[in-house]
Amino acid sequence: MATQTIFTDWKPGYAEQWGHVPLKVAHALHQSPLFTLDAIAELIDAYPRQHYSLIHMGAQGGRRFWKEGELGGLKGRDVIDWIAQGRMWLNLRSVRSVDRRYADLLDAAYEEIAVRAPGAPMFNTSMGILVSSPKAQVYYHCDLPGQALWQIHGRKRILIYPTDKPFLAPENLEDIALFGIEEDVPYHDWFDAHATVLELGPGDMAHWPLNAPHRVENHDMLNVSLTSEHWSDEIVRRHKVNLANGFLRHRFGYAPRSRALSGPGYAAKAVLQGVMRRMKWVEQKRSARRPIEFKLDAATRGGVVAFAPQGAFAPLGH
Ligand SMILES: [Fe+2]
Repeated sequence: MATQTIFTDWKPGYAEQWGHVPLKVAHALHQSPLFTLDAIAELIDAYPRQHYSLIHMGAQGGRRFWKEGELGGLKGRDVIDWIAQGRMWLNLRSVRSVDRRYADLLDAAYEEIAVRAPGAPMFNTSMGILVSSPKAQVYYHCDLPGQALWQIHGRKRILIYPTDKPFLAPENLEDIALFGIEEDVPYHDWFDAHATVLELGPGDMAHWPLNAPHRVENHDMLNVSLTSEHWSDEIVRRHKVNLANGFLRHRFGYAPRSRALSGPGYAAKAVLQGVMRRMKWVEQKRSARRPIEFKLDAATRGGVVAFAPQGAFAPLGH
Protein backbone atom coordinates (compact mmCIF):
# COMPACT_ATOMS: atom_id res chain seq x y z
CA MET A 1 0.00 0.00 0.00
CA ALA A 2 1.63 3.24 -1.11
CA THR A 3 1.94 6.34 1.01
CA GLN A 4 -0.95 8.80 0.76
CA THR A 5 -3.57 6.08 0.32
CA ILE A 6 -4.27 4.95 3.89
CA PHE A 7 -6.65 7.73 4.86
CA THR A 8 -9.48 7.62 2.34
CA ASP A 9 -11.57 10.61 3.43
CA TRP A 10 -9.30 13.11 5.20
CA LYS A 11 -11.44 16.15 5.89
CA PRO A 12 -10.59 19.84 6.37
CA GLY A 13 -9.94 20.52 10.05
CA TYR A 14 -8.62 17.04 10.92
CA ALA A 15 -5.02 18.34 11.02
CA GLU A 16 -5.98 20.97 13.59
CA GLN A 17 -8.05 18.54 15.66
CA TRP A 18 -5.51 15.69 15.57
CA GLY A 19 -4.34 14.89 19.10
CA HIS A 20 -6.49 17.61 20.68
CA VAL A 21 -9.96 16.08 20.56
CA PRO A 22 -11.31 12.54 20.01
CA LEU A 23 -11.46 12.00 16.26
CA LYS A 24 -12.87 9.33 13.94
CA VAL A 25 -11.12 9.07 10.58
CA ALA A 26 -11.71 6.76 7.57
CA HIS A 27 -8.84 4.41 6.63
CA ALA A 28 -8.20 1.56 4.18
CA LEU A 29 -6.19 -0.91 6.27
CA HIS A 30 -9.16 -3.30 6.53
CA GLN A 31 -8.71 -3.97 2.81
CA SER A 32 -5.07 -5.03 3.15
CA PRO A 33 -4.37 -8.74 2.46
CA LEU A 34 -2.32 -8.68 5.70
CA PHE A 35 -5.51 -8.47 7.75
CA THR A 36 -7.73 -11.21 6.33
CA LEU A 37 -8.61 -13.82 8.97
CA ASP A 38 -6.42 -16.33 7.08
CA ALA A 39 -3.44 -13.96 7.19
CA ILE A 40 -3.95 -13.35 10.91
CA ALA A 41 -4.29 -17.10 11.56
CA GLU A 42 -0.91 -17.61 9.84
CA LEU A 43 0.60 -14.83 11.91
CA ILE A 44 -0.67 -16.48 15.12
CA ASP A 45 0.85 -19.84 14.06
CA ALA A 46 4.33 -18.31 14.00
CA TYR A 47 3.88 -15.79 16.81
CA PRO A 48 6.51 -15.81 19.62
CA ARG A 49 5.07 -16.52 23.09
CA GLN A 50 6.72 -13.51 24.72
CA HIS A 51 5.01 -11.10 22.33
CA TYR A 52 1.34 -11.91 22.86
CA SER A 53 -1.19 -11.53 25.68
CA LEU A 54 -4.37 -13.59 25.94
CA ILE A 55 -6.96 -12.12 28.31
CA HIS A 56 -10.16 -13.69 29.63
CA MET A 57 -12.63 -11.20 31.08
CA GLY A 58 -16.07 -10.79 32.63
CA ALA A 59 -19.31 -10.14 30.73
CA GLN A 60 -20.44 -6.58 30.04
CA GLY A 61 -22.24 -5.30 33.11
CA GLY A 62 -21.15 -8.36 35.12
CA ARG A 63 -18.44 -8.98 37.68
CA ARG A 64 -15.18 -7.38 36.65
CA PHE A 65 -12.27 -9.79 36.28
CA TRP A 66 -9.20 -10.08 34.15
CA LYS A 67 -7.11 -13.22 33.74
CA GLU A 68 -4.09 -13.76 31.55
CA GLY A 69 -3.52 -17.04 29.71
CA GLU A 70 -1.87 -18.98 26.90
CA LEU A 71 -2.93 -20.30 23.49
CA GLY A 72 -2.08 -23.86 24.57
CA GLY A 73 -0.70 -24.94 21.20
CA LEU A 74 -3.90 -24.40 19.18
CA LYS A 75 -3.55 -23.53 15.48
CA GLY A 76 -4.21 -19.90 14.54
CA ARG A 77 -7.45 -20.77 12.74
CA ASP A 78 -8.75 -22.52 15.88
CA VAL A 79 -7.56 -19.70 18.13
CA ILE A 80 -9.72 -17.27 16.12
CA ASP A 81 -12.64 -19.72 16.24
CA TRP A 82 -12.24 -20.16 20.04
CA ILE A 83 -12.21 -16.39 20.50
CA ALA A 84 -15.31 -16.08 18.28
CA GLN A 85 -17.08 -18.47 20.71
CA GLY A 86 -15.64 -17.20 23.98
CA ARG A 87 -15.18 -14.06 26.06
CA MET A 88 -11.55 -13.04 25.61
CA TRP A 89 -9.11 -11.10 23.55
CA LEU A 90 -5.76 -11.86 22.05
CA ASN A 91 -3.27 -9.04 21.68
CA LEU A 92 -0.41 -9.69 19.26
CA ARG A 93 1.51 -6.89 20.91
CA SER A 94 4.67 -6.49 18.85
CA VAL A 95 3.67 -7.16 15.26
CA ARG A 96 6.13 -4.55 14.06
CA SER A 97 9.14 -6.42 15.43
CA VAL A 98 7.80 -9.89 14.52
CA ASP A 99 6.90 -9.41 10.84
CA ARG A 100 8.50 -6.93 8.41
CA ARG A 101 5.38 -6.70 6.20
CA TYR A 102 3.35 -5.21 9.05
CA ALA A 103 6.21 -2.88 9.97
CA ASP A 104 6.23 -1.50 6.43
CA LEU A 105 2.49 -0.89 6.56
CA LEU A 106 2.77 0.84 9.94
CA ASP A 107 5.59 3.04 8.65
CA ALA A 108 3.45 4.02 5.66
CA ALA A 109 0.58 4.92 7.98
CA TYR A 110 2.78 7.11 10.20
CA GLU A 111 4.41 8.78 7.19
CA GLU A 112 0.99 9.69 5.95
CA ILE A 113 -0.07 11.01 9.37
CA ALA A 114 3.08 13.15 9.49
CA VAL A 115 2.17 14.66 6.13
CA ARG A 116 -1.51 15.16 6.84
CA ALA A 117 -1.26 16.33 10.49
CA PRO A 118 2.22 17.88 10.73
CA GLY A 119 3.63 18.07 14.26
CA ALA A 120 6.49 16.87 16.45
CA PRO A 121 8.37 13.89 14.93
CA MET A 122 6.93 10.54 16.03
CA PHE A 123 9.20 7.55 16.68
CA ASN A 124 9.32 4.12 18.38
CA THR A 125 6.06 3.24 16.67
CA SER A 126 4.48 -0.12 17.40
CA MET A 127 1.45 -2.11 16.31
CA GLY A 128 -0.73 -4.59 18.13
CA ILE A 129 -3.38 -6.75 16.48
CA LEU A 130 -6.36 -7.39 18.77
CA VAL A 131 -8.61 -10.36 18.09
CA SER A 132 -11.56 -10.23 20.49
CA SER A 133 -14.80 -12.04 21.24
CA PRO A 134 -18.37 -10.92 20.61
CA LYS A 135 -19.40 -8.57 23.45
CA ALA A 136 -15.88 -8.54 24.86
CA GLN A 137 -14.79 -5.36 26.58
CA VAL A 138 -11.63 -3.54 27.52
CA TYR A 139 -12.03 -1.88 30.91
CA TYR A 140 -11.48 1.80 31.61
CA HIS A 141 -7.77 2.56 31.36
CA CYS A 142 -5.28 4.94 29.85
CA ASP A 143 -2.05 4.51 27.91
CA LEU A 144 1.24 6.41 28.12
CA PRO A 145 2.21 6.66 24.42
CA GLY A 146 0.21 8.34 21.69
CA GLN A 147 -2.34 5.88 20.34
CA ALA A 148 -4.88 5.11 17.67
CA LEU A 149 -7.39 2.27 17.26
CA TRP A 150 -8.02 1.02 13.72
CA GLN A 151 -11.06 -1.17 13.16
CA ILE A 152 -10.59 -4.08 10.70
CA HIS A 153 -13.42 -6.65 11.20
CA GLY A 154 -16.61 -6.39 13.27
CA ARG A 155 -18.03 -3.44 15.15
CA LYS A 156 -17.21 -1.89 18.50
CA ARG A 157 -17.82 1.22 20.54
CA ILE A 158 -15.05 3.26 22.13
CA LEU A 159 -15.80 5.73 24.92
CA ILE A 160 -13.14 8.41 25.35
CA TYR A 161 -13.03 10.53 28.54
CA PRO A 162 -11.43 13.86 29.52
CA THR A 163 -7.76 13.87 30.53
CA ASP A 164 -8.07 15.57 33.92
CA LYS A 165 -9.71 15.01 37.32
CA PRO A 166 -12.01 13.33 38.21
CA PHE A 167 -11.39 11.10 35.17
CA LEU A 168 -7.61 10.89 35.48
CA ALA A 169 -5.18 12.02 38.20
CA PRO A 170 -1.39 12.43 37.93
CA GLU A 171 -0.95 9.49 40.38
CA ASN A 172 -2.74 7.23 37.92
CA LEU A 173 -0.19 8.02 35.21
CA GLU A 174 2.67 7.57 37.67
CA ASP A 175 1.44 4.12 38.68
CA ILE A 176 1.09 3.06 35.06
CA ALA A 177 4.60 4.30 34.30
CA LEU A 178 6.00 2.42 37.32
CA PHE A 179 4.03 -0.81 37.29
CA GLY A 180 2.73 -1.09 33.75
CA ILE A 181 -0.85 -1.90 34.82
CA GLU A 182 -3.13 0.40 32.85
CA GLU A 183 -6.48 -0.83 34.20
CA ASP A 184 -6.13 0.40 37.81
CA VAL A 185 -7.50 3.86 37.03
CA PRO A 186 -10.70 4.37 39.10
CA TYR A 187 -13.92 4.36 37.06
CA HIS A 188 -17.57 5.16 37.83
CA ASP A 189 -20.62 4.66 35.61
CA TRP A 190 -21.42 8.37 35.77
CA PHE A 191 -18.19 9.12 33.89
CA ASP A 192 -19.98 7.94 30.74
CA ALA A 193 -22.11 11.09 30.57
CA HIS A 194 -18.85 12.98 29.89
CA ALA A 195 -17.41 10.60 27.29
CA THR A 196 -17.13 11.02 23.55
CA VAL A 197 -18.70 7.87 22.11
CA LEU A 198 -17.41 6.66 18.73
CA GLU A 199 -18.96 3.72 16.87
CA LEU A 200 -16.27 1.95 14.86
CA GLY A 201 -16.77 -0.37 11.89
CA PRO A 202 -14.25 -1.73 9.35
CA GLY A 203 -12.37 1.24 7.92
CA ASP A 204 -12.81 3.55 10.92
CA MET A 205 -9.90 4.78 13.01
CA ALA A 206 -10.14 6.54 16.39
CA HIS A 207 -7.43 8.86 17.73
CA TRP A 208 -7.58 10.79 20.99
CA PRO A 209 -5.60 13.24 23.15
CA LEU A 210 -2.52 11.82 24.90
CA ASN A 211 -3.40 9.75 27.99
CA ALA A 212 -7.17 10.20 27.55
CA PRO A 213 -8.85 7.36 29.49
CA HIS A 214 -11.00 5.11 27.36
CA ARG A 215 -12.89 1.85 27.38
CA VAL A 216 -14.14 -0.38 24.59
CA GLU A 217 -17.23 -2.56 24.12
CA ASN A 218 -17.51 -5.00 21.24
CA HIS A 219 -20.85 -5.49 19.59
CA ASP A 220 -22.10 -9.05 19.17
CA MET A 221 -19.52 -10.38 16.69
CA LEU A 222 -15.85 -11.31 16.41
CA ASN A 223 -13.69 -8.19 16.26
CA VAL A 224 -10.25 -7.57 14.78
CA SER A 225 -8.66 -4.19 15.48
CA LEU A 226 -5.20 -2.67 15.43
CA THR A 227 -3.70 -0.42 18.01
CA SER A 228 -0.84 1.76 16.89
CA GLU A 229 1.42 3.58 19.33
CA HIS A 230 4.03 6.28 18.97
CA TRP A 231 6.34 8.43 21.05
CA SER A 232 7.62 11.99 20.59
CA ASP A 233 10.18 14.01 22.57
CA GLU A 234 7.43 15.50 24.69
CA ILE A 235 5.77 12.14 25.37
CA VAL A 236 9.16 10.73 26.48
CA ARG A 237 9.65 13.70 28.83
CA ARG A 238 6.21 13.19 30.31
CA HIS A 239 6.99 9.53 30.83
CA LYS A 240 10.22 10.34 32.71
CA VAL A 241 8.40 12.80 34.97
CA ASN A 242 5.70 10.20 35.68
CA LEU A 243 8.30 7.59 36.57
CA ALA A 244 10.26 9.92 38.83
CA ASN A 245 7.20 11.38 40.57
CA GLY A 246 5.74 7.91 41.08
CA PHE A 247 9.01 6.68 42.51
CA LEU A 248 9.22 9.62 44.94
CA ARG A 249 5.65 9.04 46.07
CA HIS A 250 5.80 5.26 46.52
CA ARG A 251 9.32 4.95 47.87
CA PHE A 252 9.60 8.05 50.04
CA GLY A 253 5.98 9.05 50.66
CA TYR A 254 6.74 12.38 49.07
CA ALA A 255 3.89 13.99 47.10
CA PRO A 256 5.47 15.62 44.03
CA ARG A 257 3.84 18.85 43.01
CA SER A 258 5.77 19.76 39.89
CA ARG A 259 5.09 18.20 36.53
CA ALA A 260 7.48 20.58 34.72
CA LEU A 261 8.93 19.19 31.50
CA SER A 262 12.11 21.29 31.58
CA GLY A 263 14.41 23.11 34.05
CA PRO A 264 16.53 21.81 36.96
CA GLY A 265 13.70 19.86 38.63
CA TYR A 266 13.03 18.03 35.40
CA ALA A 267 16.74 17.31 34.85
CA ALA A 268 17.07 15.79 38.33
CA LYS A 269 14.00 13.65 37.77
CA ALA A 270 15.28 12.47 34.39
CA VAL A 271 18.47 11.24 36.12
CA LEU A 272 16.55 9.76 39.04
CA GLN A 273 14.20 7.75 36.88
CA GLY A 274 17.13 6.47 34.80
CA VAL A 275 18.72 4.98 37.90
CA MET A 276 15.45 3.81 39.35
CA ARG A 277 14.31 1.97 36.23
CA ARG A 278 17.23 -0.38 36.59
CA MET A 279 16.53 -1.09 40.23
CA LYS A 280 15.29 -4.43 41.53
CA TRP A 281 12.41 -2.78 43.38
CA VAL A 282 10.60 -1.87 40.19
CA GLU A 283 11.30 -5.28 38.66
CA GLN A 284 9.80 -7.05 41.67
CA LYS A 285 6.71 -4.86 41.75
CA ARG A 286 6.14 -5.48 38.04
CA SER A 287 6.69 -9.23 37.97
CA ALA A 288 4.46 -9.76 41.00
CA ARG A 289 1.34 -8.58 39.24
CA ARG A 290 0.32 -10.74 36.27
CA PRO A 291 0.30 -14.54 36.69
CA ILE A 292 -0.68 -16.86 33.82
CA GLU A 293 -3.97 -18.40 34.97
CA PHE A 294 -5.46 -20.37 32.06
CA LYS A 295 -5.00 -21.82 28.58
CA LEU A 296 -7.37 -22.44 25.70
CA ASP A 297 -9.16 -25.80 26.10
CA ALA A 298 -8.44 -27.85 22.96
CA ALA A 299 -11.36 -30.16 23.86
CA THR A 300 -14.09 -27.49 24.02
CA ARG A 301 -14.75 -24.94 21.29
CA GLY A 302 -14.48 -21.49 22.89
CA GLY A 303 -13.52 -22.99 26.26
CA VAL A 304 -10.59 -22.34 28.56
CA VAL A 305 -9.08 -24.34 31.44
CA ALA A 306 -7.54 -22.83 34.55
CA PHE A 307 -4.01 -23.41 35.72
CA ALA A 308 -4.67 -24.35 39.38
CA PRO A 309 -1.90 -23.55 41.91
CA GLN A 310 -0.38 -27.06 41.76
CA GLY A 311 -0.60 -27.30 37.99
CA ALA A 312 -3.91 -29.21 37.91
CA PHE A 313 -6.64 -28.01 35.53
CA ALA A 314 -10.19 -26.97 36.31
CA PRO A 315 -12.78 -25.88 33.72
CA LEU A 316 -13.45 -22.14 33.67
CA GLY A 317 -16.27 -22.22 31.15
CA HIS A 318 -16.64 -19.50 28.56
FE1 LIG B 1 -5.90 1.69 25.33
